[in-house]
Amino acid sequence: MAFRCSKLKRQFILLIGLFLVLALILQTVPSYYEAQKNILMALKLSQFESRLLNNKSFAVVKRLKDPVSLWKVHPSDDRILLQAKFNPKIDLSLSPKRILLEQGLAGWNVNGGKQAFVDHDCPVKHCELHGHPNGEVFDARLIKEIELSRFSFGSAQAEVPRDSNQVWIMFALESPEASPSYEGLNDVINWTATYRYDSTLMTPYDKFQVYDNFTQISNYKPDKNYAEGKTKLAAIFVSNCYASNARLEYVKELQQYMDVDFYGSCGNLRCDKGEGNNCFENLQKEYKFYLSFENANCRDYITEKFFLNALRHDVVPVVMGAHPDDYRRVAPPGSFIHVEEFPHARALAGHLKRLNKQDDDYNDYFRWRSTGQFVDTKFWCRICSLLWDTDLPHQSVHDLNKWWRGDNICIGKRRWDEISNSSQLHVR
Ligand SMILES: *[C@@H]1O[C@H](CO)[C@@H](O)[C@H](O)[C@H]1NC(C)=O
Ligand SMILES: *[C@@H]1O[C@H](CO)[C@@H](O)[C@H](O)[C@H]1NC(C)=O
Ligand SMILES: *[C@@H]1O[C@H](CO)[C@@H](O)[C@H](O)[C@H]1NC(C)=O
Ligand SMILES: *[C@@H]1O[C@H](CO)[C@@H](O)[C@H](O)[C@H]1NC(C)=O
Repeated sequence: MAFRCSKLKRQFILLIGLFLVLALILQTVPSYYEAQKNILMALKLSQFESRLLNNKSFAVVKRLKDPVSLWKVHPSDDRILLQAKFNPKIDLSLSPKRILLEQGLAGWNVNGGKQAFVDHDCPVKHCELHGHPNGEVFDARLIKEIELSRFSFGSAQAEVPRDSNQVWIMFALESPEASPSYEGLNDVINWTATYRYDSTLMTPYDKFQVYDNFTQISNYKPDKNYAEGKTKLAAIFVSNCYASNARLEYVKELQQYMDVDFYGSCGNLRCDKGEGNNCFENLQKEYKFYLSFENANCRDYITEKFFLNALRHDVVPVVMGAHPDDYRRVAPPGSFIHVEEFPHARALAGHLKRLNKQDDDYNDYFRWRSTGQFVDTKFWCRICSLLWDTDLPHQSVHDLNKWWRGDNICIGKRRWDEISNSSQLHVR
């Protein structure tokens, strides 16, 4: 009996463990996988000029002056669409490019072998994904940020022999503050695949592309009244109570001047997704603003808190995290309010309360809806096509740790406008 009981207990613990792992995976699988069904539509490239703060004319499109190329980091083009369309001529009698997912296929939400490239309707499908090394030869290794630390202290160089044609790709979604040190990883990683704009393959949490015919935001009208039926002002959902940018302190300050409903383990309200309770549906119906406050102020670090929680739920995101220029580069035109548009929380509260009374002004933040659409970033396709580039440059990141967390990449509690030249530091 005692034996049966402990066996049952073990199974129970195993089940709980599995559940936790699953929950973790579900939480970390980035939202761009969810957006896979979107089709690439607008393919000409355009960019936004900085929008004047607090000025309703918002973004203006400017044609690119510098040409965009597959490999060279561009200050105002993420090269995603160019890479996604890249369709080099391929000799199919050659063996396919073999890509090793260092931690196995699980957790990537992708099919192994050639299927991944068929599933994503890639221009080039002559590649294979593998989850196990099996002692075979690979053209590329895709390594997640956490696993990368295993290679620290020079051990990566020691893994001989390394084929100089093999491409080592770093994949990261977390901020530098939540990733391990890459000290000593010099000239080990060839390509980076992260949300950073200066990655080899930029992999944002989501991507909005404006249509070719986009002119300026003031020419667009909101397609409905987004204020209708909303009775509450602002909400924030936070489960991680520690944040280096002091976002909780900012929320508390904001609460002195306006209503902010604070959900999650560090707030006073709960919304448990498990009980048939769709927190985001309620957010969409009831709230005007969502505080998309990231847990760190780091360059380009803009997550599903912005794209998924707010933009895809018809609430205006009030953002804290990346530099305002970083948001402007990736956000739909005129879609958000950055905390740094205001000198302090009181001024921000004043602005939000004004918008709360003026439906027209509030609806201006939804003009972007007809300016473009969210598109699939074709991550797997891009890796495959680029591996087939006959002009593939041999390159590596000389000092990965410095690139990832060098000066002014993350700024702790400071504001971006306190950092001198912060807009200029961003091209590798
Ligand atoms: C908004 O910007 C335009 C030019 O982009 C300028 O003419 C106008 O005066 C600005 N309005 C305000 C209220 O600052
Ligand atoms: C702009 O392009 C989009 C997508 O092709 C189209 O749906 C929309 O009607 C166009 N708008 C104008 C004003 O031509
Ligand atoms: C990858 O990086 C290594 C180490 O710096 C280098 O020897 C190799 O040529 C690079 N390969 C490619 C394809 O970039
Ligand atoms: C700021 O940028 C300008 C021009 O790019 C440069 O001349 C200047 O030295 C920079 N200042 C600092 C403090 O980095």
